[in-house]
This record gives sequence, structure tokens and C-alpha cells, in this order.
Amino acid sequence: MKPGELKQIVKTCVKNLSLLFTESGLYPPHHPNVIAQLKQTYAALETVTQQIDPFSLDILEGSFVFEGIPLYELKHVSEKTVQLLESKSIGRIAFQGFGDPEELNAFVQFIVTKTPGDSSPDLQAALKAKGVARIRVEQTDLWATEQERQKLLQPKKIYAGCIEANKLIYNSVRAEQKIPMDIVAKIAKHLISIVKSDFFSCVALTGLRNYDEYKFTHPANVAILSIALAVNVLDNDSLLERFAQAALLHDIGLALIPNTVLNKQGKLTDEEWQMIKQHPLLGVELLERQERVDLLAVVIAAEHQMKHDLSGYPKIGGIIQLHPLSEIVNIASAYDAITSAHAYKQPLLADKALGLMLQMVGCDFDPQYFKIFVQMMGIYPPGGFVRLNTGEIALTKRVYPNALLQPEIKILLDAAGRAIDEPRFANLYEQQGDASPLVIQEMVDPTSLGIDPLEFI
Ligand SMILES: [Fe+2]
Repeated sequence: MKPGELKQIVKTCVKNLSLLFTESGLYPPHHPNVIAQLKQTYAALETVTQQIDPFSLDILEGSFVFEGIPLYELKHVSEKTVQLLESKSIGRIAFQGFGDPEELNAFVQFIVTKTPGDSSPDLQAALKAKGVARIRVEQTDLWATEQERQKLLQPKKIYAGCIEANKLIYNSVRAEQKIPMDIVAKIAKHLISIVKSDFFSCVALTGLRNYDEYKFTHPANVAILSIALAVNVLDNDSLLERFAQAALLHDIGLALIPNTVLNKQGKLTDEEWQMIKQHPLLGVELLERQERVDLLAVVIAAEHQMKHDLSGYPKIGGIIQLHPLSEIVNIASAYDAITSAHAYKQPLLADKALGLMLQMVGCDFDPQYFKIFVQMMGIYPPGGFVRLNTGEIALTKRVYPNALLQPEIKILLDAAGRAIDEPRFANLYEQQGDASPLVIQEMVDPTSLGIDPLEFI
């Protein structure tokens, strides 16, 4: 079974399980609605446990989490169930050797009627007394420390969850003209958490190009890079959260541009460009229609294409300079756009992109923020592949603001292009005095060398 198919059956299962909890909270155990939903949920669980046994679901910060990836996109059906489980201190459910609908019904009834906050240690024994032996639950103190929680919220998995959630946000707007702000808030929180805990891995993730839809990776990448830049200049956590949400939504107006224009292969006509140029103000209108609109998100949606010297678009009278946080999104968004592939142009490698952007400082970009951006990214950003003076190929792991050309690297291929059995780390910054120091010659495109970046990031 392909990973995508597995995820799909897991999602179907989580949806059904959530609906079963909902029905069981409303009706008695043998009500036809409960029995009908029980049948569906049982069938879905059977399908999953044939593939994964035991099948575990974590409950963390308002979402079901499967194999470390938060299922943000199921929030609309699972929210109440997750709240119910959290209120009863349940942190994980595992289904093992699963084979009886009545056992499932007894389990759901037990949880629904369990006293909130009860964290008795013999929960499993209490379940067993109800005839539930093959469904295990663990309590929320499973992640007793922040470190244990962080272990679950790994950057790679949060990023994957964010891409899925971006699809949901985008499709919601296209279908109903409404933005699921609760999901946006949750992703923003998680992205801040991973950027603060593992900035270099996060930057490396923004450089991955294995997700084919730019419109879903772009908001994630812009949010990550914007958060990373903003933590250097903001010391207000609640403003940072609002800013992260605004960065995720900066291009939301694009969801209202027809696919024929948005996904066009080839150069856009003047008329099509005019349509694209409407996306900031379409975003503003969309955001203003929300119940819980944040003015900061409106400002950033309006200003992110205006450029530092206001020579971009849209032209709005009365603005004499951009909001400082719009300047940050402007830089992050331009960097991601230049380093990403588009139907009409090839991506630039990061060092070339930064060189190009340097020429636009003062016009397109705010000089102070651009300086901070380069200091945090380096010239060879984390996750990029470089060729050394020895001919070897290495992956950039970590950059230093005071030695932009001398990152910490991991050497992966020898000069003949063969994979090294035991890749070795080298810190170019600490080579002072070496007779023959390693020097980076250029960045290289990993796909041209047959390297799958995902294997190394
Ligand atoms: Fe935009």
C-alpha cells in the first residue's frame, strides 16, 4: 500500500471514530444512529488494523496525531471528540488485534461516561472490566515534560501536517468563501514551536521540493521564514502568534483566482497578470468577512506585494511606508518564490536567489530586515547542497551569522560522486589555521546529482 493510500484510510477511520463518539454522546448505546455509525467505524478500523497493528492515535494540542503528523485537516469533524478525550485526560488510543464491534461500542461508552479529569492509574483495568481488552488508552501525562512533547512535534511531521491543512484552508475558501481560522491558529502555534526549537531543520524543510503544489508549500514556507525573522525583532509572544497566522494567510486571495490562470503552464497574458494582481485585495475582502478578523492579517494581505519603496501593487493612496511586519513577509515570500519552480520559470539556488535579492535591497526590500534575513540564512542556507574545493558534495546543516560563507556541513558524496559510507561532519567556521581548509565553491541542485534531499533532511 502506498503511503498516500494509508493516510487516506487512516483519515476515513478517524472521521468515523469521531462521528461514533459524537453519536454516542447524543444517543443511548443501542440507538439505530449509534449502531449504524458503529458498523462504519468498525469496518474502517478493520481496514486500518489489517495494515498497521497496533494502530495508535495520539491526542495532542487539539488534534488527533497519526505517526507524529497532526491531522489538522480533520479538525471540522474531530474537534469535539478531541476535546472530549482531552477533558478525560486521554493522550493516546491504540487498537490491537482488533475484532469485535461490541468491544468498540463498550470502549466508546466507557470514555463518554468517564468522569472528566479522572486520571486513575488503573484505567486499563477499568476498561478490561467492561470487556475491552484490545483497545488501550494512555493518559495525557504520557508527555510529562516539554521535551517529550517536542519529540512528538517534529519539524518534518508538523510541516507535512501544515501542507495538508493548507489544502483544506484553500479548498474551504474556494468552496465556501470562509477561512477555518481555528486551524490557522493551531498551525501558527506549532510552526512557532518548531522554529524556536529547531530553526535549521525548519529552514531545510522550506527548501524541499518534493511537494508538487507551490500554492500549499508557499504559505508554510513564508510562515516559517517570517517567524524565524520575526523572533529576532519581536519579544511579544501573542503578537508573534498573530503574525504567524497573518503570514500563513498572506496569499489567501489567490484561492479566488481561477485555476486556469493560477496553474497556467506558460507565460501569463497582460489580462491574466491583472487578475493575479488582484489577489492582495481579494485576500483583504476575504479576511474582512471573517468573524474573528485580525487587522494585522488584513494589513499584511494588502501590503505584501507593495515592495519597500511602494513600487509594487496594489496602489493604495495614503500609505507612506509599509508595516514593518509586511516588510518581513515581503522578504520571506520573495525568497520562497524565487527559489521555487513555477510553470514559467526555473528556480534559483539559494545563493543565487540571495545575490539577486541583494540587488533589490532598498527598492523591493527593507535593508535592515534583509540584513537579518541573510544573517539567519547564511549564503548557503541549511538544507542546501554544496560542492567543496575537494570536489566532495555536502549538505549545509547550520549557519553562523558572523561567518556567512563557513557553515557547518555534512559531507555525503566523494569527489567521484559516490556516496560516502559514513558521512562526516565538518565545521568550516572552526578551520582557522588549517593548512588546506575546506571551502565551498558553489551550491548544487541535488536532483542533478541523483540525491533525494528528503533522505538527508
Ligand atoms: Fe502574494
